[in-house]
Amino acid sequence: MGDSDDTGECDEKSEEKTDPGAIRHGNFMNYYQFHPAEERVRQLPRGVWQRRPVAHPARKYAGLDVGCNAGDLTYILRDFLEETMSQNQPEISLIGIDLDPILIERARERNPRPDCVTFECLDFLSEDCGEILRGYLARMNKTRFDVAFCFSITMWIHLNHGDDGLEAFLRRVCELAEMIVVEPQPWRCYRNASRRLRRAKSEDFPLLKELKYTGDPSKHIENILTRLCDFRRVTVTAGNDWGRMLLIYERKS
Ligand SMILES: C[S@@+](CC[C@H](N)C(=O)[O-])C[C@H]1O[C@@H](n2cnc3c(N)ncnc32)[C@H](O)[C@@H]1O
Repeated sequence: MGDSDDTGECDEKSEEKTDPGAIRHGNFMNYYQFHPAEERVRQLPRGVWQRRPVAHPARKYAGLDVGCNAGDLTYILRDFLEETMSQNQPEISLIGIDLDPILIERARERNPRPDCVTFECLDFLSEDCGEILRGYLARMNKTRFDVAFCFSITMWIHLNHGDDGLEAFLRRVCELAEMIVVEPQPWRCYRNASRRLRRAKSEDFPLLKELKYTGDPSKHIENILTRLCDFRRVTVTAGNDWGRMLLIYERKS
């Protein structure tokens, strides 16, 4: 599995065709042409989603999708959770957030389940994001999400906000959720993202040279989750067709 197998995010050619110019946050407009959502869900394990019985009286199960792009994966994640927890039949709701307003507009326009999937245009690291998400939870009489999905977003947070930003990001997700699913981009994608910017004659990521968390991002993410956030590993999947693993962790207490 080398760079040549990769499509989309790590392969400059395929995305430059449809997303010319400099992409700084991973807000590709045609992301799901290269990363079909159905294939991504196939990698998810079953039977790990309700570690504790749903204590909520109305059996409400809430999920957060951070960096949801145009929503395709969010829609399918909800269906997956419904199917995999069908025995207990919780009422499943998902909220997808993304900082790109055009992507959020697309996600809303095509939303097949507006009754239980919602989208908000938010920068996850902004001041008001936590408040808005806590408001969403409060309306469901919950204090935390049962699960937070962070698919292919950690590299963009890391490149734009540095090592401290990556730590802050994961801490915030963990504060908000009982379980976290992370699909980190491998280190070679960092180099490709930087090269794309330079080719587009745009300024390189200013913090890239200062990063101390270099090489195998999943190792650093595991350290942050287990040492700083007090989460423990549930499982780590084998790499998928394009070489990405899913890291699944849960709150210890
Ligand atoms: C490469 S896409 C991944 C999309 C989706 N999670 C998936 O894997 O199918 C990364 C997404 O994260 C979003 N993003 C990056 N930084 C963000 C931030 N600080 N807050 C919210 N969304 C962000 C981008 O706009 C982009 O849509």
